[in-house]
Amino acid sequence: MQDSRCQAPRFVPVGFLVARLFGRSRFTRSGKAFPAILAVALTFMLLMPEPSLAQVQTYSCTTAFGPVPIAPVLPGLLLQSLKTVANPVLPNGPVGVVRGDLTDYIANQAAAIQLGKALFWEMQAGSDNKTACATCHFKAGVDGRDRNQLNPGANGGWDGFGYGPNYTLISNDFPFTTLPTKDVDNIVGSQGVRKSQFMGFSKSGAELTSSVADPVFSVSGVNVRQVTGKNTPSAINAVFNHRQFWNGRAQPEFNGVNPFGNRDGTAHVWMLGSTGSPVQIDIHIPNASPASQAVGPPLNGVEMSAAGRAFPDLGHKLLLAKPLGLQKVDPTDSVLGSLADTTTGKGLTVTYRSLIQQAFQPKWWNYSKRMPVGSYNMMEDNFALFWGLSIMLYEGTLVADSSPMDQYLLTRVFSTTTFDPVTGMPLLVSDNPAMALPSLNGRCRRRRRFRFRPVSEWDVSGVTWAQRLLAPRSGT
Ligand code: HEC
Repeated sequence: MQDSRCQAPRFVPVGFLVARLFGRSRFTRSGKAFPAILAVALTFMLLMPEPSLAQVQTYSCTTAFGPVPIAPVLPGLLLQSLKTVANPVLPNGPVGVVRGDLTDYIANQAAAIQLGKALFWEMQAGSDNKTACATCHFKAGVDGRDRNQLNPGANGGWDGFGYGPNYTLISNDFPFTTLPTKDVDNIVGSQGVRKSQFMGFSKSGAELTSSVADPVFSVSGVNVRQVTGKNTPSAINAVFNHRQFWNGRAQPEFNGVNPFGNRDGTAHVWMLGSTGSPVQIDIHIPNASPASQAVGPPLNGVEMSAAGRAFPDLGHKLLLAKPLGLQKVDPTDSVLGSLADTTTGKGLTVTYRSLIQQAFQPKWWNYSKRMPVGSYNMMEDNFALFWGLSIMLYEGTLVADSSPMDQYLLTRVFSTTTFDPVTGMPLLVSDNPAMALPSLNGRCRRRRRFRFRPVSEWDVSGVTWAQRLLAPRSGT
């Protein structure tokens, strides 16, 4: 979030524009933007009418900081189709061998992707048995719902205009701020679960929760679903992010327990030691921000969880449950179809236990007694490790590399002798006319400013990438 004492630069950074096209890269305080996407972002200047927009911009701060550079000049790279960019978590593809450094954990990548997909879509992961990751990342990887999607923002109030819990958004609500008449700091987020407290399990293994009075998300004293204070970014192409979340807090290294990576020295997992007994160790899996991210929402009291639930509790619950047992699974699903229970019409024919046993090396689960600490067994205690890594591998399959833009980028031909005097980038000498979109008139083609919006949905039947529509921005 921008410091209120700083004034934003006059121009939208070019990286932001391109980041909108290919998931988002991450501009962090430490300046560690995800290199591949940030670098290609700079090349967007080729497509912009005024190349000087890509020059370094600074925030001017009135106190304390002084000028803060926000966009270091990086060597330009040509904007490329995602088809040509290596997949950071599935370098050999979904059916190829697993990434080298993951072999210590993953025994069978295909099984891990099945496990990750099942967990991502699993309604029973929510304390309310209704909220899955996919609940908020359902439409082209984001959230297309319009009712009860408002959070009151930093000032804690609803700011008039009829806003409040259960409000249904309409297009006229936007933009929220049109000074001097309208200044609304509400945030369009995503509805998660009702405020509640985790109370353990019933004898049959059902999760028990107790409602907690909610002063913000309630109507006439009855709790409604709480709404996140941030907008939901896409899970599609998220594997390309060096860190995850708007503020980059999901770390690149996965510690097997929570989003905080190497920053949390207290995070331990169990491993079978040389004597065959479990020992507690620290792990640091590099380039694994999707795994760090994935272990956040399941315990979050707004997104998916009753307060006080721990990951082994979730493991305990899901290991007793039928995977996707409350949901229909399409038998033609590309990943889970072969496991769909067509007899009952709901869920999978395998258990989470067997998927974990296939997907992960035995040293992370093969011990049936209780752990020396706590009351759970090894598979339950290491559940965050299985959850994070399997969802990361599944998200490796969520790459939208065949959008019209990707296809177009594959067809360009650049000069080897003529270069842009400002950027040093080679000039475009040939476009494949077949790829030119019909609605692009001469002026738009020349200026090449596009806006992108997702048009297709994504569902459990296995359609796993977004189609993007390219259209000229009106007035340019
Ligand atoms: C209640 C809605 C909700 C649920 C459920 C949910 N998310 Fe999200 N997701 C969000 C929001 C909101 C953010 C942004 C949060 C932030 O930046 O602080 C987010 C961020 C992300 C990101 C980061 C993308 C980026 O560009 O930084 C990924 C990946 C993601 N979620 C995947 C998941 C997975 C995996 C699960 C399940 C374990 C999940 N989400 C559950 C709403 C949700």
